[in-house]
Amino acid sequence: MTSGMRMQGKRAIVTAGASGMGRAGCMLFAQQGATVAVVDISAERTAAVVGEVTGAGGRAKGFVADLSKPGECRRVMAEAAAWMEGVDVLWAHAGSPGPVAVEGIDIQDFDAAVALNLTSALVCAGEAAPHMRTAGGGAMLFTSSVAGLVGSTFSPVYSALKFGLVGFTQSLAQRFAADGIRVNAVCPGPVDTPMLPAFMGRNVDEAGQAANQARIVAAVPLGRLAQPHEIAHAALWLLSDDASYVTGVALPVDGGYVAR
Ligand SMILES: NC(=O)c1ccc[n+]([C@@H]2O[C@H](COP(=O)([O-])OP(=O)(O)OC[C@H]3O[C@@H](n4cnc5c(N)ncnc54)[C@H](O)[C@@H]3O)[C@@H](O)[C@H]2O)c1
Repeated sequence: MTSGMRMQGKRAIVTAGASGMGRAGCMLFAQQGATVAVVDISAERTAAVVGEVTGAGGRAKGFVADLSKPGECRRVMAEAAAWMEGVDVLWAHAGSPGPVAVEGIDIQDFDAAVALNLTSALVCAGEAAPHMRTAGGGAMLFTSSVAGLVGSTFSPVYSALKFGLVGFTQSLAQRFAADGIRVNAVCPGPVDTPMLPAFMGRNVDEAGQAANQARIVAAVPLGRLAQPHEIAHAALWLLSDDASYVTGVALPVDGGYVAR
């Protein structure tokens, strides 16, 4: 049995926490009793989310870092852990659409996408694990995508990286199981956040972006975009003790997209 407060006393780190799903997660986890370290590259929006959480009676602090730089990941994870005197929960949510191209791809664009989507998840998980071990266990969550479960003609690089996170999830779930650390991934379909128009608008004009978005919504059986809080609720469940027997899972939260 777990209490009504599903994250009571948990020390949680949320990367890319200043917007969209990450912001919704910070608000929800704090509302459910967690102390939250909000990590993001935007100082202004991080401060705004911290203000929202504390204004609602929660406990949060902002940590600003460019997570595409491994040294920054390490620094910020250490600072957050020091502030909370440990880490129980990590939502490694940072990611980027990356390049559309395959033919003639600029490898610097590819490397930048790897750095934020994969390397940051690797480094944050590696930094969090010893703290969770010390605490006697913990829970990690990576943000993959439906493009991490099925291929995407529109975005092969993004898909490769998000598939990578699923492999990473399954591997770390086994590696850390003996330490009481659960590791899962959440695989959102299209979500109504600032990243969606950025994702759909690559290499096309505004009309092309609207057409891309209409096509993806038409492919969702529930027939609409997700709202950020709908993904945050799945994250809360996977990261809370309610999911105490769930590890190594890549959970679609996608309105039925991968069920087609
Ligand atoms: N929005 C979608 O439709 C969708 C669907 C599936 C998966 N995702 C994944 O969700 C995550 C993004 O979340 P969102 O949709 O909530 O986006 P969002 O645009 O609302 O927020 C992204 C946040 O990431 C921060 N950020 C960007 N670069 C950073 C960096 N180098 N270091 C630290 N922070 C950085 C931004 O400042 C921003 O606050 C990504 O991993 C993305 O691949 C999004």
